[in-house]
Amino acid sequence: MAAQLALLGGEPAVTLDHEYYSQWPIYGEEEVQAVTGLIRDHALASQFGGPGPITDLERMVAKTWGVKHALAHSSGTASLRSALFGVGVLPGDEVICQSAIHPFNCLPIVGSGAAPIFADIDPVTLTLDPVDIERKITPRTKAIMVVHWPGCPADMDAIMDVAARHGLRVVEDNCVSQGTTHGGRMAGSIGDAAAVSFQHGKSTSAGEGGVFMTNDTEVYQRAACLGHYERLRELPNPKWRAVSGFSFGEKYRMATLSAAIGVVQMRHWKERLDVRHANTDKLGAAIASIKGFSAPDFPDYFPSPYRSGRIVFDPSALGGISRERLLHALQAEGAQVSSPAQKNTLTPHANGLTHMLHKHPVFQGNEHGTGDVLWEVLGPHVTRIDYRNVVLPVTEDPEIPYYSIRVPSFTRPADELIEQYITAFAKVAANAEKLSGALAEAR
Ligand SMILES: Cc1ncc(COP(=O)(O)O)c(C=O)c1O
Repeated sequence: MAAQLALLGGEPAVTLDHEYYSQWPIYGEEEVQAVTGLIRDHALASQFGGPGPITDLERMVAKTWGVKHALAHSSGTASLRSALFGVGVLPGDEVICQSAIHPFNCLPIVGSGAAPIFADIDPVTLTLDPVDIERKITPRTKAIMVVHWPGCPADMDAIMDVAARHGLRVVEDNCVSQGTTHGGRMAGSIGDAAAVSFQHGKSTSAGEGGVFMTNDTEVYQRAACLGHYERLRELPNPKWRAVSGFSFGEKYRMATLSAAIGVVQMRHWKERLDVRHANTDKLGAAIASIKGFSAPDFPDYFPSPYRSGRIVFDPSALGGISRERLLHALQAEGAQVSSPAQKNTLTPHANGLTHMLHKHPVFQGNEHGTGDVLWEVLGPHVTRIDYRNVVLPVTEDPEIPYYSIRVPSFTRPADELIEQYITAFAKVAANAEKLSGALAEAR
């Protein structure tokens, strides 16, 4: 007989402490040495390139992603801003992007003086839908801002095809998806330019920081002229090199201390990523072999269907269970599962706002006239858009991705914890018929 559900008074299946297995970032003595060494040597200046942590980090990123140029920045957001500048986005242009996303993806578009044009997402990958991108193109469109999720890249072949047919540039936001691959290529190395983040919570973690990258030497030089005043004397094209002693925007260089931490993190990055991937693949495959659960149906360019951290459930094989009920039962077992509906979460640091940028008061307006602020700051170059008419059926559907739940990713070898998760899922599957009644009573 199947063990009693924790929800019905049984023992929870997951008892190990998640903190150790999920610890991130993992900093240690190596980082301490790298940072204290720089302070002792009074070697914190970062502006000139040359030997040191900034150059080391740029080389490591360029090598890991297989790109020609990498330039360290103060943040991933700043790297995205340089990428847009590099590909030639100007005030008055339009840039197509997705709405269910962290605002930092969109802010550099507005910072460039361009209007964000929100396109819908694919219901399985939750990345930009190439068909809707094409619908949103106007004579003012200059670029497409693509986001990749961890383990879950956007459909880059189709997006690059749309871009080529319409003469658009593609910027890849690789800020949260370091190590995601697309048909064997690193996400971030496919479009015209990309950014990775080295902010504290990311898999390349260094407190704050970002790296801009590109294979296009012209894009690189132009991008460098936005925020890297002192680096311009190295540029190969005399046109851009002559900007040396001036520049066209903000001061975007990375702090040396962050770069030093980033270098140590990059040394361990691949081995830690492999641990994460081994864990997600093992956990996903084991759960998918339990009746009622399966792998998401991702396109072939995905390296593994489990690396998005999502598992699909079949309500008809689980007593007609809803996502909410399934989550409730698994959470009672101690499993840290959640809903993967990205747009269902809240915008960070803005209480109560849904995670859909096109619904934000900056775009929708409110009684304080916040919607007018956008046009005030963008100025007269930009053609006004009435965002109240923007309808994104997939983005706005709170149930998408249908019948999916999110499982955590573990940063350290976690075989024992994974076994406990498998037991939790098996228990819930075996008792699924009882769940509707049990949950009704539990309320
Ligand atoms: C999708 C996405 N893009 C860009 C960024 C910006 O990165 P950073 O915090 O390094 O500026 C973030 C930050 O969380 C993000 O989630």
